[in-house]
Amino acid sequence: MDKRSLCLLVICIKMCLVIWLVSWQQPPLLESEMMAEAAALGGGSRGASSSSPPPPPASERRRGLKSGGSSGSGSGSNPNQITQPSRTHLSFNDSIVSNTFERPAAPPPQSLAPQTPTPPQSSMHLMDLPNFAYIIDQPPCEPRVQALVLVHSAIPNIEKRRIIRQTWAERSYIDRTPLRVIFLLGGVGAGAENWQHWVERESTLHGDIVQGNFDDAYRNMTYKHVMALKWFTENCAQAQLMVKVDDDVYINTPQLVKFLTDPTLPEHALLHQPELLLCRPVKKSRVKRTYRSKWRVTYKEYPHRFYPPYCPGLAIVYSPEVVRRLYAAAQKANYFWVDDVLITGVLTEATGTKITKLTYYLDTAAVRKLVQGGTDLDKPPFLFTSDGIRPDESLALWQMTVESNYTLTTPSSASASASFSSANISRSPSPTSRGIS
Ligand SMILES: *[C@@H]1O[C@H](CO)[C@@H](O)[C@H](O)[C@H]1NC(C)=O
Ligand SMILES: *[C@@H]1O[C@H](CO)[C@@H](O)[C@H](O)[C@H]1NC(C)=O
Ligand SMILES: *[C@@H]1O[C@H](CO)[C@@H](O)[C@H](O)[C@H]1NC(C)=O
Ligand SMILES: *[C@@H]1O[C@H](CO)[C@@H](O)[C@H](O)[C@H]1NC(C)=O
Repeated sequence: MDKRSLCLLVICIKMCLVIWLVSWQQPPLLESEMMAEAAALGGGSRGASSSSPPPPPASERRRGLKSGGSSGSGSGSNPNQITQPSRTHLSFNDSIVSNTFERPAAPPPQSLAPQTPTPPQSSMHLMDLPNFAYIIDQPPCEPRVQALVLVHSAIPNIEKRRIIRQTWAERSYIDRTPLRVIFLLGGVGAGAENWQHWVERESTLHGDIVQGNFDDAYRNMTYKHVMALKWFTENCAQAQLMVKVDDDVYINTPQLVKFLTDPTLPEHALLHQPELLLCRPVKKSRVKRTYRSKWRVTYKEYPHRFYPPYCPGLAIVYSPEVVRRLYAAAQKANYFWVDDVLITGVLTEATGTKITKLTYYLDTAAVRKLVQGGTDLDKPPFLFTSDGIRPDESLALWQMTVESNYTLTTPSSASASASFSSANISRSPSPTSRGIS
């Protein structure tokens, strides 16, 4: 080898070293900035997440204050899209300040059999946040509520919440069932104060929003999950179930009601177990370390190669006892931003809680087939769909449900044929008829 090529080789090695060093020391912030930018460009988190084969913890799919709300809504109809906050002119008094209120003394925990010591009431801390408070709160559950559905949503996802209120959480239906549906949000964050006005307006209209005072942000999802556990424990503990879903999942609420209320069904016993954490668990999920991954986790954040088995956040069912236990554990845990891994993986393992596998589930392909009339609504019965369900699919599913009289069957007559097959599904009620106007 002559001198020149040796020289070249040395230079090459040096350059590689420099590149490696630079990428190694890249501050983590850069990644989130890039993400936010990508989201702002309209790429949306959907595209990014669906392209990577092993689904990441799903609770993080829709995210980012600047993601433009209805990104990924396949129908392209967003009639009630909110005006851009930059175009609204609000006085400061309209925003956060006016509607911030302290919770009245929380009701005593109606714990039936507190095996775990109940966490102190109305504690002002949430994990490492010393001054947690609700910016918007709702009254505690009425005795009729047997299952509280808590939907994790992001501030801009107005369209997704509207579709949910128009389909499986339709008020005129839900109020006749033992279910209650609440959306969980974080704070709008600095620089987006105008959004608060819209959040409050939505809350006034529908009375179904609970908002915490931590920023609704990419790495703050764990606060929202723990807030869900807290809210349930302090306001709804007499219910039999807490159901946590993401805002792009469809819940077959009539099926849930049937399982909850018909004691002849085996699922009734399943859902009434005192010890229940029901989901489609992910096992041996490898921790992502590459800088290109949205899910990159540093060794400092999580040192092991694999996560413990955990419940992807898209749909999880908890019994009150499990909620209490995980809430108590979470309050003492170190913060880790992948919420479902921390709460349903690390803490579930640490508290010796068992995960029960959920079988009542439809993936996207099964949803498409059902919507096109290829299968029946209740054969097999399903409780949840995968995430990423499009608005038109949600509307079609609900339309089928209504047409099948499914919603109207009482537990005793539930055996009556609820099957419905049709090649032509009419689009459901005008999507403009509700929501924020
Ligand atoms: C905001 O409210 C305070 C009283 O609460 C009032 O003194 C002040 O003038 C208001 N400011 C605006 C911009 O409306
Ligand atoms: C999470 O929320 C806290 C409290 O509001 C805030 O200080 C922090 O900046 C938020 N994190 C992110 C990544 O926005
Ligand atoms: C739904 O109920 C109506 C009135 O009770 C009945 O006419 C109709 O046949 C039912 N549809 C199905 C699919 O059972
Ligand atoms: C559905 O198809 C039936 C015949 O198969 C037809 O009579 C009916 O009008 C169609 N409904 C819609 C909404 O297209």
